[in-house]
Amino acid sequence: MSIIEQLQNFPYLPLAQLPTPVDCHEVFPHSSRISGLYIKRDDRTHPQYGGNKVRKLGFLLAHARDNGYRAVMTFGGAGSNHALATAFFAQKLGMRGLLVLGPQHNSRHVRANLLSALQTTASLYPCAWKDTVRTAAHAFHEAWQADGVPPYVIPSGGSSLLGALGYVNAAFELQRQVREGILPEPDVLYVASGTMGTCIGLVVGLRLVSMKTRIVGVRVTTAPYTSLERAQALFQSTNLLLHRNDPDIPLLPWDESNFTLRDDFFGDEYALFTPEGMAAVRYARHDLGLQLEGTYTGKTFAALLADADAGNLAGKQVLFWNTYAGDDTALSASAAGGDWHRLPEPLHRYFEEPFQPLDSD
Ligand SMILES: Cc1ncc(COP(=O)(O)O)c(C=O)c1O
Repeated sequence: MSIIEQLQNFPYLPLAQLPTPVDCHEVFPHSSRISGLYIKRDDRTHPQYGGNKVRKLGFLLAHARDNGYRAVMTFGGAGSNHALATAFFAQKLGMRGLLVLGPQHNSRHVRANLLSALQTTASLYPCAWKDTVRTAAHAFHEAWQADGVPPYVIPSGGSSLLGALGYVNAAFELQRQVREGILPEPDVLYVASGTMGTCIGLVVGLRLVSMKTRIVGVRVTTAPYTSLERAQALFQSTNLLLHRNDPDIPLLPWDESNFTLRDDFFGDEYALFTPEGMAAVRYARHDLGLQLEGTYTGKTFAALLADADAGNLAGKQVLFWNTYAGDDTALSASAAGGDWHRLPEPLHRYFEEPFQPLDSD
C-alpha cells in the first residue's frame, strides 16, 4: 500500500478542494536571476474561506465528529484565522465553535475576522493571555454542561499531529503536481512558521516521498510556538504516528539540512507588521496580483524577496506556499457591515482603537 493510500486510513473529511493550483511566474519581475517563481495557492482551499487551516481541519474535525463531539474549542489571537476557520467548518458539520481569544495588535484583518466570527454560531471568550487556562476551563465546563459531552480541544493553529497530517498530504499533492509537469521540483520552498504544523507537515511529507526541496520556515511568532526544538519534536511525533499506523512508513532521522528556520523577518512581535513585510504585501498585490497580509505571508514573502535580491536564489526553482485565505473571502464579504457591538465587550476595542501604524494602503 502506498503512503498516500495509507493516509486515507485516518478519519478525514474532504473540506478542502484539492489539489490547489500552482501559479507560475517564469519571468519574475523582481529578480531575473530566479529560474522560476511558483506560488502554491492554498488561498483556494475553499470557495468561502480558504487558507492553510482547511487542510488541517479535514483531519481534526473528522476525529471530533467520529467521536461524537458537539462543540470544538480552540485558541488564538483576536483575529486568528485558525479560530475563525475552526468556527466556520465546525458549524458546517453541525458542531459549535468555542474560541478562546487573546489580545493582538489591531488591524483591518482583526476587525474583518471578528465580524466574520459573528456570522458563525461560535461563542467567543476573550481574555488576557495569562488567563487562557482559566477561561478555557470555564468554556469547557459550560459546553460540557450544555451538551452532555465535553468539547473537542484543538490546540492553537491546529498544529496537533492530526493537523500536521493535512500538510503531509499537501507534500504528496505537490509531488504529484511535479510529476504531472505542473512545476519543476522546487529547490527551495518558503512558508510561514507559526505553530509549525504547516511547515513540519511539509517537511515530513517531502522526506517520505524523497523530494530534495529545502523548506524555509519563516518565523512569525516566538517560542514555544515556533522553535527548532518544536520543529524536531513535531517532525518525530508526526513520523511516529504514521509509522505506528503503517510500519512500512519508515522512521526518519531529523535532519536540519532540508529545513531552515529564518528569524530575521519576524520583527518585534507576533502580528506586529514590519516595513519589509508590508512592502512585500504591496509588491505581491501590484506585481503578482496576490493578496498577502502583514502577520504571516507578508513576512514570509519578504524573506523570499530579500534572498532573491541578495542573489541567494540564483538559478533556483522557488516555491512560495501561500497560506492566507485572502482579503475578500466570501465569508468576510458577507460579514462586512456587521454590528460589532454584538461582540463580547472586551473585543470592542478593536473597533474603537486605531489600527497599528503600518496597516495602511
Ligand atoms: C495565513 C496564515 N499563514 C500561516 C500560518 C501559520 O501556520 P502554522 O501555524 O501551521 O505554522 C497561519 C496560522 O495561523 C495563518 O493564519
